[in-house]
Amino acid sequence: MSERSSSSTHSADEIGTAAPDGDQATRGASTVMLSTTEGRPGLIVTEESRAAARRQAAMLEGVEHTPGVPKPDPVLVADKVRRSFGGLVAVDVEHVEFQRGVITALIGPNGAGKTTFFNLLTGFDRPDTGTWKLDGRSLARVPSYRVARLGMVRTFQLTKALSRLTVMENMLLGGASQRGEHFLAALVPGLWRGQEKLMEQRAKVLLDRFMLGPKAPDFAGTLSGGQRKLLEMARALMVEPSVVMLDEPMAGVNPALTQSLLGHVKELRDQGMTVLFVEHDMDVVADISDWVVVMAQGSIIAEGPPSVIMRNRDVIDAYLGTQHDEVDAPARPAAPSAPAPPAEGPGAVRADARVAADRPAADTPPADVERQP
Ligand SMILES: Nc1ncnc2c1ncn2[C@@H]1O[C@H](COP(=O)(O)OP(=O)(O)O)[C@@H](O)[C@H]1O
Ligand SMILES: [Mg+2]
Repeated sequence: MSERSSSSTHSADEIGTAAPDGDQATRGASTVMLSTTEGRPGLIVTEESRAAARRQAAMLEGVEHTPGVPKPDPVLVADKVRRSFGGLVAVDVEHVEFQRGVITALIGPNGAGKTTFFNLLTGFDRPDTGTWKLDGRSLARVPSYRVARLGMVRTFQLTKALSRLTVMENMLLGGASQRGEHFLAALVPGLWRGQEKLMEQRAKVLLDRFMLGPKAPDFAGTLSGGQRKLLEMARALMVEPSVVMLDEPMAGVNPALTQSLLGHVKELRDQGMTVLFVEHDMDVVADISDWVVVMAQGSIIAEGPPSVIMRNRDVIDAYLGTQHDEVDAPARPAAPSAPAPPAEGPGAVRADARVAADRPAADTPPADVERQP
């Protein structure tokens, strides 16, 4: 099992070592209270949580590079999950395990079934057959809102912010199991005011972290595409998740912002969360993932660390086989800090390989918020 500790045990000194872009709020001792659920990761990175993340990743070193391979400390396990639409089999996953506390990239050509698989795992869609478990607990037929309360949240490839609510209201809607939501409890403000305040504080810390603080009172409809993606990520974190699934978090985000977004994703892991994310950009995958799972035509066809996956023949074939699907996606400059791609062998999957037919166009950059480093 994981060696994670609850955020409520950290000292004010440790809080001072919070995220590099750490806002003032994360430096106050009060922020350690921002997690209301026992045992869930908090909002801060500590030396302890970072070391635990490294240990979780190190455990993968002895794991074989074969599809469906067991993991030393799996948090999410799926078996025989199958979903077809008419005659088309969109997902047909025999067995897959996701290691706790690391970043796993889910890659594969367009139409491979990645989004559908996310939908199934998080209760937004029902499979024809199959079982899957979060921390040993079966999630079959558990509706999406309950999956979120159990600690597994996802964001959408196409963002779903509610335009006619303010940014802050969108955040508060994301908070899980709020006591005031129950009819009788709602009549007794004393029962929920404290929690509501906590939720607001958590929302504020998250909005500041995602550089949306100044936008809190604005309607979500006024945000750019990239800002909506950030809002969606921030909102997902309101439920104090232990597993975060991000469906193309970088898509449509202004290139100037992708580096800091990548930093945020790493930070989630370093805070103690498990991150699963879908991404097409191999630079990004190589930069931030501890493990890569490859889907093609609904099935898992390969697994391994990024450097191994990029040289995998099946993966190369899967990508090359879909070149005809490619459209003129806006090219993104390679991340400056990304490691050089392991271009070994003639057909290595190049860092600039992209199959981004469904990627929305990058939004107009210079909104004030997006200009920040
Ligand atoms: N609601 C749906 N109805 C019919 N076909 C669908 C539906 N959702 C997805 N599909 C099909 O399932 C396949 C997998 O899609 P998807 O999961 O979106 O792939 P990916 O996210 O890997 O690009 C595609 O062929 C897609 O057209
Ligand atoms: Mg998709």
